[in-house]
Amino acid sequence: MNPSGSHPLTFFDFFDFIWKLTPVGRQFKKDCDFVHSVAEEIIDKRKETLDKTADETDRKYLDGTGRGLTKLEIRNEVDTFLFEGHDTTASAISWVLYSLAENTECQRKCQAEIDDVLEGRESDDLEWSDLAKLEYLTMCIKEGMRLHSPVPVVSRDTENVFDLGDRVAPKGTKIQLNIFALNHMENLWGPDHMEFKPERFSKENIDNIKHFQYVPFSAGPRNCIGQNFAMNEEKVVLTKLLRNFTFRLDPNHKVKRVMSAVMRTKDGMYMFVEKREFLNK
Ligand code: HEM
Repeated sequence: MNPSGSHPLTFFDFFDFIWKLTPVGRQFKKDCDFVHSVAEEIIDKRKETLDKTADETDRKYLDGTGRGLTKLEIRNEVDTFLFEGHDTTASAISWVLYSLAENTECQRKCQAEIDDVLEGRESDDLEWSDLAKLEYLTMCIKEGMRLHSPVPVVSRDTENVFDLGDRVAPKGTKIQLNIFALNHMENLWGPDHMEFKPERFSKENIDNIKHFQYVPFSAGPRNCIGQNFAMNEEKVVLTKLLRNFTFRLDPNHKVKRVMSAVMRTKDGMYMFVEKREFLNK
């Protein structure tokens, strides 16, 4: 794979020791060192807090076998969380906002709901108990994640022969599960599957969605460990944005999806942002 994301592969890229000396290789190392320093800073701060606050029984960094995790193992876990938790939510929030900017009536309904929840308060910070009250916003988030699929594909290597019914994958096969395609199967979502329709996730309709039909966070033993956190993060960020601003798409810019580890755009997503009227009073 090409880690730079933009550099065309050359002969030298196939030999690690040469590649590391190329400008791209050197930049890659610099970027990795930076990311590792961020992770190490997080670990050190956390350890410091634990050392100050927790008693001896709480202060064990043990893995499932009862062995303590090495610093490198902890850093690997932190790296996973930083990466799994950042681009994914950024993609989800951007695409939900895109759909709300495109569907002005849905945006208006979200704003009305948010205004209702925040009525009479000085701050636009949500309380923990507010999260469950944002039912319509939640429907829009779920529908946005269906329509655009922030994580469009997940992959697996088969450890055993895998019988799929009409075909069999031998052991060691790489399988890609296309969540985006699943979210657009006409027999499951209907002929309007390319349309943004939050009511698919209303209390009345949610039971029509079959088991494993909607899996934005994957499913099974390796599903997303941060899904509740991610849903809450999306609600908090979108609430702040929609409470303060109204979003409108730039009609002169066509947004094109690009599938990568997360759903991106080809040339960005342009919107006009307008401060909401009541805030100017
Ligand atoms: C909208 C946001 C998010 C989406 C759509 C999403 C989606 C996913 C998906 C589809 C997987 C499974 C990957 C696979 O099966 O190969 C996954 C795994 C994972 N996610 Fe998320 N994720 C999101 C946010 C987060 C956040 C905020 C965190 C952490 C704070 C997180 C942590 C993880 C971790 C650690 C795994 C690996 C779990 C394992 O392998 O056992 N994710 N995520």
